[in-house]
Parts: sequence; C-alpha cells; structure tokens
Amino acid sequence: MAKSQTVFVCSSCGNESPKWLGKCPACNAWNTYYEEKIVKDKGTSQKRVTGSDTVPLNHVETGKYERYHTGYDELDRVLGGGLVQGSLVLLGGEPGIGKSTLILQICDKIKVNGPVLYVSGEESASQIKMRADRLQIANDNIFFLGETSIELIDESIEKVKPALVIIDSIQTMYSEELTAAPGSVSQVREATSKIMMMCKKQNITTIIIGHVTKDGAIAGPRVLEHMVDTVLYLEGERYFSYRVLRSVKNRFGSTNEIGLFEMRDVGMTEITNPSDIMITEREDNPSGSVIVASMEGTRPMLIEIQALLTPTAFGMPRRTGIGIDYNRLVLLMAVLEKRAGLPLSNQDAYVNVVSGIRLDEPATDLGIALAVASSYKNIPLPKDLVAIGEIGLTGEIRSVNAIEKRINEADRMGFKTCIVAESARKQLKYKGSMNVLGMKNIRDAIKSCGL
Ligand code: TYD
Ligand code: MG
Repeated sequence: MAKSQTVFVCSSCGNESPKWLGKCPACNAWNTYYEEKIVKDKGTSQKRVTGSDTVPLNHVETGKYERYHTGYDELDRVLGGGLVQGSLVLLGGEPGIGKSTLILQICDKIKVNGPVLYVSGEESASQIKMRADRLQIANDNIFFLGETSIELIDESIEKVKPALVIIDSIQTMYSEELTAAPGSVSQVREATSKIMMMCKKQNITTIIIGHVTKDGAIAGPRVLEHMVDTVLYLEGERYFSYRVLRSVKNRFGSTNEIGLFEMRDVGMTEITNPSDIMITEREDNPSGSVIVASMEGTRPMLIEIQALLTPTAFGMPRRTGIGIDYNRLVLLMAVLEKRAGLPLSNQDAYVNVVSGIRLDEPATDLGIALAVASSYKNIPLPKDLVAIGEIGLTGEIRSVNAIEKRINEADRMGFKTCIVAESARKQLKYKGSMNVLGMKNIRDAIKSCGL
C-alpha cells in the first residue's frame, strides 16, 4: 500500500492522525490539527548509527563571531552589538507596524561584504522601489526578487551569492514539497527550515519577517522561535508613532535591551534619548500625573503615568490599564485600599502610560499608586517628582535594581525630588543634587507628597 506523504498533527499535544480531525481525541482541544510532511526514512534504520565523538568542552574552539553594524545603534544594541554573520533572525510584528520599512532602511545602511537580496512575496519590485524612493534609498547593492517558492529562491541565492537575505514575509512562502497552503503551520515551518539549511550552509545572514496578530495566534513567529538564532518583535500602538524593538530570544546577546524608533514620513527614525521626548508634552500641574523611571535593558527611561479616578455609576467599579498589566493595577488598587486607607472600591480607575509604550517593570508600582492617590484626592503631585519602587502586598516599598542609573537620569532631566524605598536610600551612592526621599511604605509615601 502506498504510504501517505503527510500526516495531521495536533499543535497542542503532538498527537498524529492520518486524517484531519476537528477535535483532538488525546487532549480534547478543538481545531488544532495541521498537515505535516512525513520525512521519509531512507532505510537508515537497518544500519548502525554512529554518533559524533565526544569532545572535552574546554578544548572546543569557539571562533569569533563577526558582527555587522546595521547602521542603527538602537538595533545593534538589541542584537547584542550588531548582526552576527551567518545568523538567522526572525522579525515579528503586527501587519503595518513598519517591519518592511525598517528592514529596507537596514539593507541600505548595513555594511556587508556582498550583495543584499530582498525577497518579497507581498510587494512587487515597483512597490519596493517606490518605498525606497520615499526613504531616499538608492543603493546598487540591494537586489530584489519577487518570489514565493522556496525552491526557486534557493536557485536565486545560488546565483546572486548574497551576504544578507531578507524574506518578507514567511507567511507568503511555500515549499513545493508540501500541499498545504502558504501561511499554514507546516508550510511556515518547512520554508523556514529550508531557508535555515541553505543559509547556514553558505554562511549567509538571513532576516525573516513574520506577521503576528494581537494574540500571536496565526501560524507564524511563535512556531519558529526554536529554529532561529534571534527573535525580535517590533511593537507599538498603531495610532502612536513610537515603535519598540524587543528581543525575546538571542543566542548572541542578552534579551532585555529594547530599541526605540519613531515612524516618521521619512521612515523609521532612532530615538536615542527617550526621556527627552516622553515627557515634553506634560500638562502644567494636573492631578494624577507622575513620572516614573523605568529600566529598559541597560538604559533608564523617564516616562509619564496618568491616572483618572471617577465615582462608579453603578455596580462593579471599572479598572482599565493601558500600557500596564491589568492584574498589577488591580493589585495596587487593593493595596491602596487596605494599606493606605483609600476607599477606592466605589471608584472607576483608568491608568495610562503616555506615548503608547508598555511598562511591565514592578519598579513603576510606586508611580502608579501615587498617580491613583493623587487623582482620587484631586491634588497634584509635585511637578519635579520621580517615583521609583516596587510595592508589596503589605504596602511596603521595595528597592529595585539599577537605582543609581535611574536617579542620574532623573537628575539629568532636571527633576529635583525622587522617592525610593528606604532600604535603597541607605545604600545609595548617588552624590548629586537631587533630594532623595526614602520611604518604608505606601502610606508614608502618599503623606510625604502632601496628599
Ligand atoms: P510597513 O513597513 O509596510 O509595515 P509591515 O511591513 O510591518 O506590514 O509599514 C507600513 C506603514 O508605515 C504604512 O501604514 C505607512 C507607514 N510609513 C510611514 O509612516 N512612513 C514611511 O516613510 C513609510 C515608508 C511608511
Ligand atoms: Mg511588510
């Protein structure tokens, strides 16, 4: 009997079935079956398999990673000092966020020793050229290929011998060996592994662009993360011009650095001094506004948090957090109620991080709590105040890392006072002119601000 070439695999538990199933009999998940290609066994099972020799780890030669400078410091920092030669990078993000724009700019600026091949399955050569004109890019080293078949792309790579290949986007690519539609899990995975093999073999640096939806649901970056060397995500609110580049996996560097860009009419522009622009549009002295110092990787960033409290019209009070974790907001509201004695259970609360940036660091807790308290009492906080600290469930203020860096940044930006945990103040080596107040708990911190 002829063997079937494909099998259906449950993406949630890995159960296999010869036909598609709506519900997985093994894990009961719905709609998780995807077609996968069966890798044919070429009779090797009969032969004795000889493994590689073991090597003492101390004697392994590492060789040096050659890194290309991308022309953008923000990107180089996220990559850990530049794009490693021969590496495979995945750039994910929502459609329309600016991935193709950023990559085209990089193709222009990057100094590689060979041609750059831009493969697009989404746009035609003239569309890319129009974008390049708009970005004022005229570079003889960039070659365009409008193709979606991996096998044909492979041939072009053989011909052009590029040093850098861009695949825009992986969801449009397909391998002729599979019957599944482009964009399906099996196609995306197969196409990536083919690209990986040909590029690693020839030491070609590759950037793969992948689309993700808000919940990261579609067959895309998520299923590829384990295959590639580096995974970058470009994020941002669609109606804000700021874009954050984050790395979630990096075999050649740390993953906690971020890069900041602004989408302008001339393309993506680096933001090297984030604090300068994040707090420029601050109102004179409104209640519910505070500046926090958040660490994004090794770089401190001052940013404004606003809170608005209004009496609940009826029933359950609403809590809405934009740019902060919802659960964190609910927790802080509970701490304020119990430990600082603020009756907030009949108040709707809205908290917003200005500029559409997302802050997940617990060091912003104190700022959020002070903003909420200030809005509730309708008393503004001092305008030159910066709040730095994590809040525990007993209402205690805890110290956070890199406190000196944060304070120095606040100092540089002209702030005069900063509230930190008492334990942090005791160990502080800061010698500048800022007035650093150490507070033990949230109740004291609120009092010290005159609320
Ligand atoms: P694009 O790079 O095509 O997004 P992606 O590849 O992630 O889908 O960017 C599309 C958006 O960027 C589009 O809505 C227009 C905007 N844009 C600018 O604001 N300025 C520019 O210079 C360019 C080229 C695009
Ligand atoms: Mg695009």
